[in-house]
Amino acid sequence: MTDLTHLAEGYRERALRPDTERIAWIRQDRWLGFPKAETVRTTLQTMLDYPTRTRMPCLLVYGQTGMGKTRIVERFGAENPRGFDDSTGVASIPVVTVQLPPQPTEGEFYGELLEALGAGYSGRVAWSEGRTEVGRARHLARRLMTQVGARMLILDEINHMLACTARQQRIFLNTLRYLANDLRIPIVCTGNHEARAALLTDAALAERFDAVELTRWQDDEPLKLLLMTMSAILPLRASSELTDERCRQAILDLSDGNTGRIFRLVETLAVRAIETGAEHITVRDLDAADLILPSVSMKTLARRRGQARADAASV
Ligand SMILES: Nc1ncnc2c1ncn2[C@@H]1O[C@H](COP(=O)(O)OP(=O)(O)OP(=O)(O)O)[C@@H](O)[C@H]1O
Ligand SMILES: [Mg+2]
Repeated sequence: MTDLTHLAEGYRERALRPDTERIAWIRQDRWLGFPKAETVRTTLQTMLDYPTRTRMPCLLVYGQTGMGKTRIVERFGAENPRGFDDSTGVASIPVVTVQLPPQPTEGEFYGELLEALGAGYSGRVAWSEGRTEVGRARHLARRLMTQVGARMLILDEINHMLACTARQQRIFLNTLRYLANDLRIPIVCTGNHEARAALLTDAALAERFDAVELTRWQDDEPLKLLLMTMSAILPLRASSELTDERCRQAILDLSDGNTGRIFRLVETLAVRAIETGAEHITVRDLDAADLILPSVSMKTLARRRGQARADAASV
């Protein structure tokens, strides 16, 4: 009998399944509620339940790419799903999430918002930036927001506004201010550090928005907990060394403390452990020179290659 006590109870049976099935499971999207992510999620829930006031709290969740911002708002959206009232025939969308288009001009932005509201704006491209059209889109969006009972508006990746001209950026910030004043629901934005700086250039928005940063991982308790959780759920048949100090250091080194990279790295090693039959991850696996990987930071990869060349030269 295989000893699977290193796995959490609900995850042991999966470890006995065929390799292909286990690998497919490892590669699936999943949610792991690490403390910082959970704090943001709880804050969002508190904001959603906030009684209506003239000035509603707004939040900016910021951090470098891959830190898990989109994953948090996706998870939150899934927990507060759309509904449909059969008797009135009206959809209810408590949390409206808009992924900002690559160049969020006002017309593009309202086009996306209308789509998120189910207005099916397939002719969106036809939205010229003409004032009448944008004005119509704005009014329609506003009416629909009330109709569907929207209680929160989430704008994911507001850093896309940085791809716009300075004038368009100002218009976008004005739009944000208008929505915050007009809708009287909390607005949540996600973006990078540059987006935060841009948001702060608008005094009214700076006043309204609280900001929370998803910082890089460090060698501390939350990292240990994350790796412990991963060790307990990944369907490997033997116990891994992920939480050992050397493993933690190597993981931080290879990932640059980036959430997405940590997940990709550990998942890649887990798949490899199944394919080779090793069935567990050790510190040696993290030293492997052939770790390919978008999960490994380019900086680290370059350093490792340099080291390998130096080693070869000294032989
Ligand atoms: N809580 C989580 N649980 C499981 N996986 C996660 C979690 N957070 C992040 N990830 C992993 O990290 C990857 C990057 O996360 P995400 O796309 O949310 O980053 P982001 O901060 O939105 O990046 P960007 O600024 O580039 O949009 C995800 O695809 C997922 O694999
Ligand atoms: Mg994102």
